[in-house]
Amino acid sequence: MIDSLNQLGSTDGMVDYNENSLAQQQNANRHASTIRNLAEQVSTLSNRLNITDYGCGPGQSAIETVRPALDVWSNNTSSKHISVCHADQPGNDWNALINLAFGPDGYMSATHVPQVRTSVGSFYGRLMPDRSVTLATCFAASHWLSKSIRLDAPGTIWFADLTGENRKKMWQQAQSDWRNFLRLRAEEIQSGGYLLVSTLGSVPEPGEINGIAASGRGIYRALQHVTAEMTDEGRLDRKTADSFVFGLWFMTSEEARGSIENDALLADAFEVDTLDAANADESGDLFSTYINQPAEYAHKYAGYVRAFACSTLRSHLFAPSAKTDDEIDGLETDFFDRLETLYREKTSAYAFEQWFMTIILRRK
Ligand SMILES: C[S@@+](CC[C@H](N)C(=O)[O-])C[C@H]1O[C@@H](n2cnc3c(N)ncnc32)[C@H](O)[C@@H]1O
Repeated sequence: MIDSLNQLGSTDGMVDYNENSLAQQQNANRHASTIRNLAEQVSTLSNRLNITDYGCGPGQSAIETVRPALDVWSNNTSSKHISVCHADQPGNDWNALINLAFGPDGYMSATHVPQVRTSVGSFYGRLMPDRSVTLATCFAASHWLSKSIRLDAPGTIWFADLTGENRKKMWQQAQSDWRNFLRLRAEEIQSGGYLLVSTLGSVPEPGEINGIAASGRGIYRALQHVTAEMTDEGRLDRKTADSFVFGLWFMTSEEARGSIENDALLADAFEVDTLDAANADESGDLFSTYINQPAEYAHKYAGYVRAFACSTLRSHLFAPSAKTDDEIDGLETDFFDRLETLYREKTSAYAFEQWFMTIILRRK
């Protein structure tokens, strides 16, 4: 088994995020009332109220995630010091984010003047001072592992289709990362504060590989289809393709809960308020409205997938298969052209299904 843990971040440098993050924006809006409720519950905890959004990204969803808390705090507790912190990796488009925050669709107004901060680094390290966060959010980010993993896994590029030792090895990394993420947040969130994690999950499904249906199975199987096609044609290096797996894991409810309850430190630090991977109403095909226009449907999917997957594919699949930057660019163009063709021809056979995982933890 090849066992190298690559030090490159798993999501460095996403592209075209705001244009291609429909699912993330819908998800932020879906949680607005939950964020409002949590903000109300914590508003009496201290004179300094802080919302920190971990893995905020560069887009409008980062604004919509913090806006409900700022609305509540600005209206109810105007004498308090209110701050918002956007936390993400160095490669995030910070200029885009700050422009949005201070722009016409941002959260600054005559009544809302929170102190705005950024914290730059990995959420697998400390990002905020001890017990300084009143309400922590993490949307569509915590499923990315701390490192990309290489395995001897020909035939699949994603975790849910791994079996045996490969699956075990990847879960060990995923569970260790999840626990580490929570231990760090336990140090940063004040007593009585909340952590809201919204991510994609997996649900039991008899008949599926490993008996689990994982969010995005259509998308990742489409990516695998194109990877196999380009590898068979010699466009991608076979050794690289056979060992490449996306560095992410969508947990089942049991995996997420067990990791907390069977860890003395975490069980002591957090009370589980909500923990649920369920098939939300919005689940199904993200671009179903375009299903009768295959070209538009395919274009939407290719753009959406490119926004979150391109940097990973460039670093871990295209670069090791190429000699020059031009060749890497050529592989990228070829790959996403083929993906678009696949979606145009097969449409909903590779639809994006989502099982949303919502986790709310109260810091004891
Ligand atoms: C799909 S985007 C989600 C952004 C935003 N929260 C949303 O819901 O639209 C995932 C984000 O997680 C960030 N991310 C991934 N791994 C991270 C890590 N280890 N530390 C901090 N941020 C990370 C990425 O940089 C990216 O901005």
